[in-house]
Amino acid sequence: MLYQQNEIKRLLGEKSAALVEAGMLVGLGTGTTASYFIESLIKRCKKGLKIQAVASSIQSLNMANEGGIPIYDMDKVTSIDLTVDGADEIAPSNDLIKGRGGALVREKILASSSKRLVIIVDDSKLVNVLGKAHLPVEIIPFGYTATINKLNKMGYEGKLRKKDQSSFYVTDNGNYIFDIDSPIEFINPEEDHKKLISIPGVVDTGFFFNLVSDVLVGYRDGRVLFRK
Ligand code: 5RP
Repeated sequence: MLYQQNEIKRLLGEKSAALVEAGMLVGLGTGTTASYFIESLIKRCKKGLKIQAVASSIQSLNMANEGGIPIYDMDKVTSIDLTVDGADEIAPSNDLIKGRGGALVREKILASSSKRLVIIVDDSKLVNVLGKAHLPVEIIPFGYTATINKLNKMGYEGKLRKKDQSSFYVTDNGNYIFDIDSPIEFINPEEDHKKLISIPGVVDTGFFFNLVSDVLVGYRDGRVLFRK
């Protein structure tokens, strides 16, 4: 029997929520897969699990609030016990591309402040080389045309993400997302990241390097396997 993608995501959410222990400060990722984690965590909290959480987006914050998970102010946090988040692409090195959900900057702040970062992905997210889909880059609205011009001159073509036909997508930080076109194979993604963040107006890229502790991969046959 083959599982549908949302069923795999649900399994990933359940398995990752089982990693949470009483008393932990938990980082909540963003996206459909991370939502299944939050959903499972809400169920555990309703059964008596006592934790606190910080959220990587307003969407995840609202979901946790509605489910009764006590939310801690990220401005007061230096260390998170465990963060669980999804990804758009993951390489064999466990380097990632994130940000299709637009939360890459906050997600990276949580990830880089976490003692343990567990990434939950279905097997469609596994790639040999990063760059199968878009690379999201968060840029500030001020002077965005000049910023995009600089990106283009460096060889990074793409599009400013739209919310709808007449307006740009705006992140929780009040910024825009420039999605670098696919397919582009990032052979040296760390070099690309350095070049991109050197451009004034660029806040961060969706590349995540050396942050992952474990990956939980869900397969169509229903297996969910740990990968270090
Ligand atoms: C949001 C993200 C998401 O974690 C990523 O886009 C994966 O989302 P999904 O689980 O919906 O495929 O980085 O900024």
